[in-house]
Amino acid sequence: MTPAVELKDVSLIFGGGHPKEEPVLAVQDIHLAIPAGQFISVVGPSGCGKTTILNMLAGLIGPTKGSVMRHGEVVDGPSRDIGYMLARSGLSPWRTARRNVELGLEFRGVPKAERRRRAMELLGKLRLEGFANSYPSQLSQGMRQRVAIARTLAIDPDLWLMDEPFGALDAQTRLTVQAEFLELWYETPRTVIFVTHDLEEAVLLADRVLVMTARPGRIKSDTIVDIPRPRVIDELRFDPVFRETEHRIWEELRGEIV
Ligand SMILES: Nc1ncnc2c1ncn2[C@@H]1O[C@H](COP(=O)(O)OP(=O)(O)O)[C@@H](O)[C@H]1O
Ligand SMILES: [Mg+2]
Repeated sequence: MTPAVELKDVSLIFGGGHPKEEPVLAVQDIHLAIPAGQFISVVGPSGCGKTTILNMLAGLIGPTKGSVMRHGEVVDGPSRDIGYMLARSGLSPWRTARRNVELGLEFRGVPKAERRRRAMELLGKLRLEGFANSYPSQLSQGMRQRVAIARTLAIDPDLWLMDEPFGALDAQTRLTVQAEFLELWYETPRTVIFVTHDLEEAVLLADRVLVMTARPGRIKSDTIVDIPRPRVIDELRFDPVFRETEHRIWEELRGEIV
């Protein structure tokens, strides 16, 4: 089967275009194949190139060497069937929650009544139906991130790129949003690349966890998380297999972050 995502010998150098500018080798020799529907987490020290890899997959920047492919085709520009979520929700402040969820559907020319129906259904799944007419400034951080999830679900992207999406949430809210997101993902598993600083989060959510080295970022280890789904996050945190997996990955990671 052709992988949903494939990086073949990918390296990327920033800058160096100007004689006074030192080129920066951000990522080096990345080899990675991700089957469709896999949930993969990526952890690694700050500046090791995690965001750079997501940006290459989103078609925002090209590799200096090697090739970045989706479903066997070289990525050569931005694509509509990718959802990109960041720590900041990126909601339009002048649109209500519902109209934020409708945004991608508007771009696709979905008729108004259908857009509205779909947006309300998704807000319902994220327990936000009572906030459909609220503006982002009237919502908590956690609610805003849930609206951002609903907005991404609305366009049902084939690939989710998530760059520390829950990083700005407090610990309690984070647990709730993680559980909700996991449940929704499990209904229709799409390929997810989830970058996080939180190792526990990485293991709880993913089928597989990559550890990257300090810059230049290379893949240091690639571990399968052998824990069945559906997973109940608040119970799983005390599960011995979970703890053992997290510990093993921590051993790989700790050498890179000192
Ligand atoms: N546009 C850019 N120009 C020059 N250097 C960059 C640019 N974007 C990122 N970098 C450098 O590339 C490295 C990897 O960055 P990034 O992918 O953002 O790391 P991470 O997301 O893992 O923290 C960092 O050293 C960063 O300073
Ligand atoms: Mg980053």
